[in-house]
This record gives sequence, structure tokens and C-alpha cells, in this order.
Amino acid sequence: MTATTAGVRGGVITGWGVAVPERVVTNRDLEATMDTSDEWIRERTGIHERRVGGSTASLSVESGRAAMDMAGVDPADIDGLVLATTTPDRTVPATSSTVQHELGLTCGAFDVNAACSGFVYALVQAHGMIALGANRVLVIGTDTLSRITDWQDRNTAILFADGSGAVVLEAVEHGNQLLSWHLDADGAAEDHLYCDVGGTIQMDGKEVFRRAVRIMVDSANGTLEDAGLTADDIALVVPHQANTRIITAALDRLGIEHERAAVVLHRTGNTSSASVPLALADALDHGRVPDGDHILFVGFGAGMTAAAAIIRWSPELATAAGESEST
Ligand code: ACO
Repeated sequence: MTATTAGVRGGVITGWGVAVPERVVTNRDLEATMDTSDEWIRERTGIHERRVGGSTASLSVESGRAAMDMAGVDPADIDGLVLATTTPDRTVPATSSTVQHELGLTCGAFDVNAACSGFVYALVQAHGMIALGANRVLVIGTDTLSRITDWQDRNTAILFADGSGAVVLEAVEHGNQLLSWHLDADGAAEDHLYCDVGGTIQMDGKEVFRRAVRIMVDSANGTLEDAGLTADDIALVVPHQANTRIITAALDRLGIEHERAAVVLHRTGNTSSASVPLALADALDHGRVPDGDHILFVGFGAGMTAAAAIIRWSPELATAAGESEST
């Protein structure tokens, strides 16, 4: 479904943070263990290297702490933790419980599994909590896909990796950073991309590619229409980082120049729930979003899920959140 946020209590991102494992695995490293080449991987995916290691909890704690430090909020002030992940450390309990404890939070915590659309799903959930009265929600997207990747399978091993990104979302009494959102799933397509319990990721790459482009375009157009905007109004697109060819094909259909996309997958690979916040943080750290401009998030993944959201990047709103915090 798609929806606007007119008339609801709003939220604003006041801090962000990232975490990636130290270990770098280059395409050349993969050449040594399977029948592939650096040239093929770069050309067909855009990936040069990826990071591998860590647990979903450890990476989440690192990115979550960085986001809270940047926002200047105490653990005791966080009212909710939403962790998007498709690779929890345990089946039970949710990995968000471990993260909640290690960060010293005293709030409710839960995991969201929407595969690579997960971070945008979690961001929408967090806005919903703010609309219902929460003041500060920590939203984290983390995946350790290396743990469910068959490292002998050149169809998948060249793509997947580990990482984490987080944002702090704070309530504002007037205004809203989130203008519109779209969440979708098509369970009939789940066999194109799945991992059984205890297994490794299985994927029909061509079919996923074909659907991904269509899904991204449809979700982006739905959110643009609901926000009353056109593609020209978007300063920055933060797409799921799966394959540069998927990103450019979707941007071409949306009529958005490639330069307006945040892309980090050449050095991160596909980190699923972490890919959108990793790309967002990189763009923000490089000052790529002028005040008052619009950011379009658009993700797709196993399920097959899709998610898009448009926010207006507004420092005045972030200041207003800080002011209401001190009153
Ligand atoms: N190295 C070298 N050659 C390879 C490799 C490899 N790693 N993989 C396949 N090839 C070969 C194939 O055997 C084939 O050879 P042939 O022509 O002699 O038969 C040729 O390269 C082309 O293979 P294709 O499968 O047609 O390659 P394609 O261009 O479709 O690229 C890819 C494959 C990169 C997987 C692409 O389909 C893709 O990116 N799909 C989407 C994947 C994706 O986004 N997944 C994540 C979804 S998000 C989530 O929820 C986790």
C-alpha cells in the first residue's frame, strides 16, 4: 500500500551511524576460490570488494551507538528499538533483545524481517510509533549474509556481504520529515530468492533482476504521487545496493540521472537490510543533500518485498526535535 503522512505526529532523523567488519574480501580473493573473475563481477554487478565478519548483534551495537552519540541522546531516552535483519543471530530471541541490552536501552525491541527492503520497512514502523506517542526510536538495519552464503556458489557468493547502519528518529510537534511511504510484498514470488532454515541463499538471478527493476519503479512512482512530487523534485535516491545495473535501469525508467543516486555497493557488496542506511550515511557524510531537498529511499528483496519512502531533509525540524527534548 502507499500512504501520505499528512495530519500525523512527525519524526525527524537526528543522528546516524554505520558499522562494517574489518575483513575485506576482494573480487581477486574470490577468483582464487571459484570460477569467476574480477572483471566479470565488476561489469555484471558493480561490486569491487565487500566486508565479511561479525555478528548481527555486534554490528548493530556499533552502528546504533554511533547514531545515538551523533544525536546526543542517552540510552534511557530511547523509547523503542526496531532492528531490520534477515540474518538474526538466533531464531529465538530476536537479535534486537541482545542489542537492547548491550546498548543499555530500557525500551521495547523487536526485529523486522523484510529482507533487503527491511530498513525502509523499519523506518516506517518507527514513524508509526512516533505518531502513537514515542519520542525517540532507534532504527537499525543489519545483515550478516556471509553466514548464509554458499562460498562455493558463484551465482550468489560474489554478491552478498555484512554490514550495519542506524538512525535515531525523534518526534517533532509540528511538521514531518516523512512525506509518503509504500510497502509491498508478493509471496507468490518467494521461490525466486530464499534460504531455508539452516541452509544457504538460493536465487534465480535473472528473474530477481527483472522483477527488481519493475518493483523499484512502481514503488518509487507510488510514493512520488502520494507526496505530490515528481522525479525532478528528488535530490538524492538511496536505492537498495544489489547491483549497479539494477539501480541504473530503475533510474532510467524513473527519469532520474544516475548522479543523483547514493551508491556504495562497489565497496560493501549487497548487505541486505544494511544497504540503504549505509548508502544514506555516506551521502549525508559527504553533504550531498541540500537543506529542504527530498530523499527517495527505494528497496526490494526476498519475499518479494518492496519499500519506498520520501523524506524532506530539514535541519529546522532536527533543531525543533532537539528543542522539544530540552523542554
Ligand atoms: N563469474 C563468472 N561468470 C559467471 C558468474 C560469475 N560469478 N556467474 C554467472 N556467470 C556466467 C554464466 O554461467 C553465464 O555464462 P554462459 O553465457 O556461458 O551461460 C554468463 O556468466 C551470464 O550469466 P547470467 O546469470 O546470465 O548473468 P547475469 O547478467 O544475469 O548476472 C547476476 C547475474 C549478477 C546474479 C544478476 O542476475 C543479478 O544481479 N540479479 C539480481 C540479484 C539480486 O539483486 N539479488 C539480491 C536481491 S536482494 C535480497 O533480498 C537478498
